[in-house]
Amino acid sequence: MTLPPAVASSLADQVAAVLEQMPDPSGGAAAGQLERELALAFGVPDAVTVASGTAALHAALSACGIGPGDEVLVPALTVVMTVAPVVALGAIPVFVDSDPASLDLDYDDAARKFTPQTRAILPVHLWGRMGDPAALSEFASGHGLTIIEDAAQAAGSSRGGRKAGTIGAAGCFSMKDGKILWSGEGGFLLTARHELAEHAAAFRSHWQQPPPGQSPQSRLGVNSRLAGPLAALALANLRRFPELARQRREQTRSLLDALEPVPGLRALAPAPGEQWNHFAPLLHIGLPHPREFAEHLARQGVPSSTGSFGLVPCDTRPMFTAPDRSPCRGAAQSLDRTLAVILTGGDTSQALARYAAIIAREANTWAA
Ligand SMILES: Cc1ncc(COP(=O)(O)O)c(C=O)c1O
Repeated sequence: MTLPPAVASSLADQVAAVLEQMPDPSGGAAAGQLERELALAFGVPDAVTVASGTAALHAALSACGIGPGDEVLVPALTVVMTVAPVVALGAIPVFVDSDPASLDLDYDDAARKFTPQTRAILPVHLWGRMGDPAALSEFASGHGLTIIEDAAQAAGSSRGGRKAGTIGAAGCFSMKDGKILWSGEGGFLLTARHELAEHAAAFRSHWQQPPPGQSPQSRLGVNSRLAGPLAALALANLRRFPELARQRREQTRSLLDALEPVPGLRALAPAPGEQWNHFAPLLHIGLPHPREFAEHLARQGVPSSTGSFGLVPCDTRPMFTAPDRSPCRGAAQSLDRTLAVILTGGDTSQALARYAAIIAREANTWAA
């Protein structure tokens, strides 16, 4: 990561200040301060910090009462980290297809898969793109479901004036490197329901500080506390979030603009009313064998969700497959035909120009 010297020294100073107070068995003050500032920044009553985005989902699902035998509707168009916490709680992920045109959930498919055991719906704002919050809320309230959002990649996105991560009962974020708001590893959840925040805070620390009226360690939790130095790093980055968000927007725009004239590739446009955080340059691949094209680009040095990380619909992962289930074809089509270039804050304009040159060159000669 190449940071300007002033930013680098300010980040280092803020982490060093926490290091000087260590070791501190109480965990220190940084995570608490981060929670207060996150709540203010997102305009919600409560934020709870945890060790990862996965841990945020785990705590949020637990707080919403999801447990053994409950069914949770989850898009197949996601990463395993969304689904693992559902399974860890003994609940059953039920994969829902997505509409390749909008990347939003296919609510007809969701309705077909709803059963009396369905308790929650877990939309994922993959690549920072948001589905329609009104359709989500209407479906959830019509079926009596709790909404838990996976907003891991969506800090800074909103649609119809509603911020990603503030639509449902809880919104879950990751701060792993590569996210716009990063701290190496880390995560947090947002909620307007104080009892959910209390549960999540108890859950992340083996129920040692239980909600009022409950006994310490009276139920199982986990250790998923956010370490002090990482909280300090996250706090420093939160305070310059507008700058980080602007940087990512400019990176993504510059790559998309450079690729505008390239035949066979088309930038995916956000929906009307969607303020997309530009998490990743997203291109529809209209070339033959699109998935192989993304894999080929990865070998040429352009990282992408499918080409580098082998992202496939979650319902096709061996640990989640079931013989009696038809595959989510819309999700498969979306992944096969989308080039989602992986960016970090460290990608310079030279690096982006190199990506653009490789993609243009390979698209012009691609005939796999
Ligand atoms: C969509 C999505 N959900 C969940 C996660 C899990 O976050 P973490 O890696 O911080 O556990 C990620 C992380 O990359 C993600 O991209």
